[in-house]
Amino acid sequence: MPVRVVIGAQWGDEGKGKIVALLSNKTNYVVRYQGGANAGHTLKFDGKTFVLHLIPSGIFHEGTTCVIGNGVVIDPIKLLEEIEAVRKVGAEPMGRLLVSETAHVILPYHKALDQARENARSEVLKIGTTGRGIGPAYVHKTARIGLRMMDLLDAKSMREKIEYALDDTNVLLDLHGGETVQTSDVLQQMIECGEKLRPYITNTTQLLHEALESDKDILLEGAQGALLDLDHGTYPFVTSSSPTSGGACTGTGIPPTALTHVMGITKAYCTRVGNGPFPTELHDDLGAEIRKIGGEFGATTGRPRRCGWIDLVALKYAARINGMNELTITKLDVLDHLEEVKIGVAYKLDGKIITHFPLNTNDLERVEPVYETFKGWQTSTNGIKTFEEFPTQAQDFLNAICSYVGVPLKMISTGPDRSETIRLN
Ligand code: IMP
Repeated sequence: MPVRVVIGAQWGDEGKGKIVALLSNKTNYVVRYQGGANAGHTLKFDGKTFVLHLIPSGIFHEGTTCVIGNGVVIDPIKLLEEIEAVRKVGAEPMGRLLVSETAHVILPYHKALDQARENARSEVLKIGTTGRGIGPAYVHKTARIGLRMMDLLDAKSMREKIEYALDDTNVLLDLHGGETVQTSDVLQQMIECGEKLRPYITNTTQLLHEALESDKDILLEGAQGALLDLDHGTYPFVTSSSPTSGGACTGTGIPPTALTHVMGITKAYCTRVGNGPFPTELHDDLGAEIRKIGGEFGATTGRPRRCGWIDLVALKYAARINGMNELTITKLDVLDHLEEVKIGVAYKLDGKIITHFPLNTNDLERVEPVYETFKGWQTSTNGIKTFEEFPTQAQDFLNAICSYVGVPLKMISTGPDRSETIRLN
């Protein structure tokens, strides 16, 4: 049975939530594998909008079990709020939501440190983090002073671990102008969170291995996007985890040999939130227009997203580092009204044309995009049900993207609702 990974092929916000929700009805397990409440997966159904930050987007399909894998960093307070919010709209997470006992915990001091450090950075060095404590929680994980979800269930060892972590953290908070934290400020709250989350916390690695052995359908849901990957993204303007397909394996315990489909999700244009290079960014009225029509404001922070043309140099790089074998293009309808549309096909760096994605972030800041221009289709694509029904200009645009990237097109999304999706054979 398929083990699919759904990956953001750009800088996040490609519309993964909708695609995961759509695929979930045929999926036994939907598993989040990295990131934390920095993500915001927007789902629109029955005329309502719902944003999930931690719980996998499969939660609204009754037959689907949702797993938060070991690679995720979990803010227990946010998770409990989200469980309640999901319950309010009629889905019951108890028994259907399972949380890895080895996933790391985001504590209030991680958030305080994230914000203090970001505030202390000069304008040039600011990353523009979501302030959700993601970076410091992963730092504590790798420094081996983090708490795991299983620690929330053991008050004595939790006290010792928090005290130890605070020795370092308070020095840093002080250094960066943040307020220091005492163990007593967080311990009781975390004990209470642990008690409430106890029924959800389990060995999800074992569960997923059993699911693999009984041929279950599994979908691994990435957060953020390939170009925000800690190793392969535009460092240091990245998140602190691995949204790429390798991260799907380390973040769940599912081996690489089990993956059958690696699905990259890209918008028909490109956006980025936060700082960092973005070669095809549009700084003019057109960028603002795309932002307005596409509703390009962060689902987690509400920040306006930077908008630009689709960048095929970056997309091809994302396809390669992930081993993508399927492509989904979303938000095509946002370009419906334009007279002409562009795709970035190369960069100019120091007078030379290059077609590879530079790993040196300073070089990437300096490149000039080289575009191919297409005639716009200037007609609504909403409600179209087959590829053949698209205006020829839109077909040419979609075909050009897939042929450049060398990955077959699997789905096209022409609107926020699940029904506004075309599947290709
Ligand atoms: P952090 O993940 O909060 O540490 O933020 C690091 C960078 O990743 C910042 O540029 C954020 O704007 C960006 N980022 C984090 N989560 C998302 C997301 O879900 N979508 C888009 N960008 C994100």
